[in-house]
Amino acid sequence: MIFIFITDLHTGQHGEFAHNIDLRQNFLDTLAAIEEQPYDYLVIGGDLCLFEGNAEVYQWQKEQLDRLAKPYFIIPGNHDDTITLSELFDHLPLVGQAEIYYEVLIDRQTFLFLDTARGMTSDLQKIWLRERLAECQSERVTIFMHHPPALMGVPHMDQRHALKDRREIIEILNLTNIHKDIFCGHYHVQKSVFMDRISIHVTPSLFFQIDQLKEEFAVDHLNIAYNVIELREDLMTTSVHYLQGNLI
Ligand SMILES: [Fe+2]
Repeated sequence: MIFIFITDLHTGQHGEFAHNIDLRQNFLDTLAAIEEQPYDYLVIGGDLCLFEGNAEVYQWQKEQLDRLAKPYFIIPGNHDDTITLSELFDHLPLVGQAEIYYEVLIDRQTFLFLDTARGMTSDLQKIWLRERLAECQSERVTIFMHHPPALMGVPHMDQRHALKDRREIIEILNLTNIHKDIFCGHYHVQKSVFMDRISIHVTPSLFFQIDQLKEEFAVDHLNIAYNVIELREDLMTTSVHYLQGNLI
């Protein structure tokens, strides 16, 4: 079973560029690259919009995604509007305090899609996460969430934009012995952090990548990437593919 994970599209309105980058073209180029290889499911890791949720942007993205004719899942990021997102992508459930979180079972494997669009999760979502993990029948669980639930050793993001309730999330994750593979975006870097029974993988964005050493914001490079996650019976592989080759 192969998932492709893309994140932080930051698509602007028609003709809107940022940092001189044609973000719509970045998205189209990525989808073209993805179509060249086998996969079963696509996951969009949040920050679909440049600054804030926009119905026209979501509609344009939906047209491109529907054209692929493969199932896709979406989680919201801090530059999304969950209500607008759920209106445009009507398979996304709006739960409780306008959050989008849900569970998917495929071949007896559990996949959890979380909502950290407000920089943290609601109490209701934390209760749901605890319950889903407690009832999980598979030996490992794959979680998709926009913000990583831990500091990642990227000073600019760790100090200013980390998930506010990350310690509570880690406490909940540690309540179960199941191995948790967590795929995130938000940080605009490629980085993995490993804890006891928790692996956190941050995938680069489709916008720009952030300098991982500087405390002040600085762009590292503009090479965009997607993550190929393959699950077999007894192992998981993850490999980040850069569209212009691996420059770093
Ligand atoms: Fe982002």
